[in-house]
This record gives sequence, C-alpha cells and structure tokens, in this order.
Amino acid sequence: MLTYPTDLNSDEQELARTRLRELAEKLTADGILRSPQWREVFERTWRHPYVPSYYPELGAPCLLSIDPVRRAEWLAAVYSDQTLITKVIQMPLSRSLRPGAQPMFTSSSTLPALLLTMLEALEVTDGCRVLEIGTGSGYNAALLCERLGSEHVTSVDIDPELVDLARERLAANGYTPTLAAVDGDGGYPERAPYDRIIATCSVPAVPPAWLEQAAPGGMIMVDVRGKIDGTVVRLTADGAGTATGHFLPGYGSFMPLRHTLDFPPPDSVWETDDEPVDSVSQVDPAELQYGNEFGFVVQWHLPDVTWSPATEDGQPGVHLRAPDGSRASVYGTQTDGGFRVSQGGPRRLWDRVEEAHTFWQESGRPSSERFGITATATEQYVWYDHPDSEHRWPLPAPQPAE
Ligand SMILES: C[S@@+](CC[C@H](N)C(=O)[O-])C[C@H]1O[C@@H](n2cnc3c(N)ncnc32)[C@H](O)[C@@H]1O
Repeated sequence: MLTYPTDLNSDEQELARTRLRELAEKLTADGILRSPQWREVFERTWRHPYVPSYYPELGAPCLLSIDPVRRAEWLAAVYSDQTLITKVIQMPLSRSLRPGAQPMFTSSSTLPALLLTMLEALEVTDGCRVLEIGTGSGYNAALLCERLGSEHVTSVDIDPELVDLARERLAANGYTPTLAAVDGDGGYPERAPYDRIIATCSVPAVPPAWLEQAAPGGMIMVDVRGKIDGTVVRLTADGAGTATGHFLPGYGSFMPLRHTLDFPPPDSVWETDDEPVDSVSQVDPAELQYGNEFGFVVQWHLPDVTWSPATEDGQPGVHLRAPDGSRASVYGTQTDGGFRVSQGGPRRLWDRVEEAHTFWQESGRPSSERFGITATATEQYVWYDHPDSEHRWPLPAPQPAE
C-alpha cells in the first residue's frame, strides 16, 4: 500500500490548527457553516491525512507531503477553500493527438465550501443512516463519521485503490465506516435503507437504485446535470419510489459518475454532410457561460448538447454539438442587428437556446433554486417553481443498474 507520512511536527500542527480555524471562520462569515454542530465537526476533523498529495495543476507533478521544502505549501492548500485533484488518468495514446486531448481527473477532495453546503442542507440528525457515493479521499466520510458515528456511515467508490487508501486513512484517525468498491449507480443494497444519500459525483438522472434504497422521508442529494453546468438538487423520497425537491442555490459541480475505471470511450457523434444554414439571433452567445443561470436553464432544453467557447475576431461565441450530428456556431460579433448563427444537422440547436432565452427572460431570469426535479424509476423531469408546473423538461431515461 502506498501511503505518505502525514504526521505533523508541532510547528506544522500549530499552522494547520490556525488555518483550519481561519477557514471555519471564513465559511461561517460567508453563511456556509450555519450550525454549531457542523462547525464543531469541521474544526475537529483534519483534512490533511486524506489529502497527502494532490495535483496543483494539470500536468504538474504531484506535490507530496514527503517533500520537506513544500510541506507548508501543502498544508496551506489543504486548509484553504480549494478543490484538490487527487487522481488523474492519462488519455490513451490513440486519442492523445486529438485537439484538446487532456488527462482526465478521476478523483478530488471536494471544495470544502461545497461539501459543507451539502452537509448543512442534508439536515442530518443523530442516528441518521447515510450512504455516500464517491468516497474519494475519504475526507467527507470522516466528517460524516465525526458527526454521526462510523456505524451510521456507508461510503462507496468505483475505484478500489481509493477505497483501500480511504479505509486505511480513516482507520488511522479512528473512523470505521462501511466502505465498498462498487459502482455506486446501484447504491449499496446491503445496508439499505438510508435516511440520506449524498453523491459527490454527478449524474444525468437519479439512479433508480437510490430511489429504492432511500427510506421514506429520506433525502437524496446529488448534482444532476446536463452537459453545461452542475447544480446540486435535494430530493425527498416518498417511500413509494418517487423523490422530488428543489435545486440548491448556487453552483455545485462534480465529476461525472462513471461505470468503468478506464478512460471513457469518446462520445460518438454522427457526422452529417448537410450545408449549415445561416441566420441572425438576438441572443448574445456571451450569455451562455459555465456557472451562470442561463446556462443552467439551457441544459434542460438541450440535455445531450455539449457547449464549448468559440472566438472570432476576439469576440466570444459558442459552439454547440449533439451526438446526432446537430451543431450550431454563434459568434459574438454583431451583424445586421444581431449575432451570426450557423446551424446544421437534424435539429436546430440554437432555436432551442432562443426558446430557453424567451422563457428565462419572461420568467424574470430565475436562478437554480426556483427549479426542481421529480424522479421515479421510469420518468424524471426538471420543473420550474412547482412539480405540476407547465414548464417541465424531461431528463434522459434512467437506466436500471446492471
Ligand atoms: C469528487 S470525488 C469524491 C470526493 C470525496 N467525497 C472526498 O471527500 O474526497 C468523486 C468520486 O466519485 C467516484 N466515482 C465516480 N464514479 C463512481 C461510481 N460509479 N460509483 C462510485 N463512485 C464513483 C470517483 O472515483 C471519485 O473518487
């Protein structure tokens, strides 16, 4: 087992304690840490044993806790509000020459502010049985164990190496939750039902197994997303296979749940040889960005569509692309009183963006918490303001776990 020494000398302990307290104060002042219980738990739970190394930036070597020169830097990062990438897999050589080819992050220690936002919103009480999907570093499992006791915590990850490391690190800090290396898409029936299911990886729709394994009145908290932006939704299960609830305010983006340890196959995109059709749009492509409310709304209109930025003459634009070969490019340079659009393939993607824009403008530019999801094992949809709203967008059909 490859482990790194994370024991701190007395100066380092002092530094870590000071930084942890400062971070707790900042997160309290920002309104993220709201309850005395979570504040106490946060201040009692070290993060450094779970993140002995991380990738400071893509391609850079791992910064290790065993590098004596960089230990202060490591501790400063661990006790700051940062996501720390902890595992990366290289792209296969056969695909590495494609434009934009990059290694893929497969695990990280989540941004503390995001973890705590979710933990606070999870509204746990003593005795709650929690299932976490995405053990990763084990730090979130440690927070849950510190709050609820190890016997109430189950955490699963698809990557056995991560589970082994997390088990060892958790045990070294006195925590013994139930851990398993399984595809969390199927939940973990062995310990069901759960009062809370929290996922730290994103899904296109709520896995049916989670709906089955949630206790009546239990909560499911997960980033359900299209291909543009992530936001966490909090669903309450009715005990009869349906869960419903609103998105949380703000953005909370997680890496996708995956079914294999390998690099995922490339999205298959049909090539179509039709001539693109040009038009002019009043919708500024600059409005469609990651992390903004309009992007959040657009993704429900176009759940299979990938967004990427495009630039022409220094003006920001966007490319949209769907697996069926539909595509649209929109440029930020104003022309003939609008923005130049070029669309091809079987669907007119930008026309759907315009519909989304009309809805969003007429509704007063609502943010994510005005929307919610209703999920059953066979049908799931995003709604605006109320589950019975006329404004609903279907999510991809949930796939039962294999
Ligand atoms: C953002 S990280 C988890 C962060 C973690 N909770 C922590 O505190 O460090 C996401 C994790 O989800 C895991 N994951 C991805 N697909 C999964 C699946 N199908 N089942 C279980 N875990 C999965 C990844 O291996 C990764 O470790």
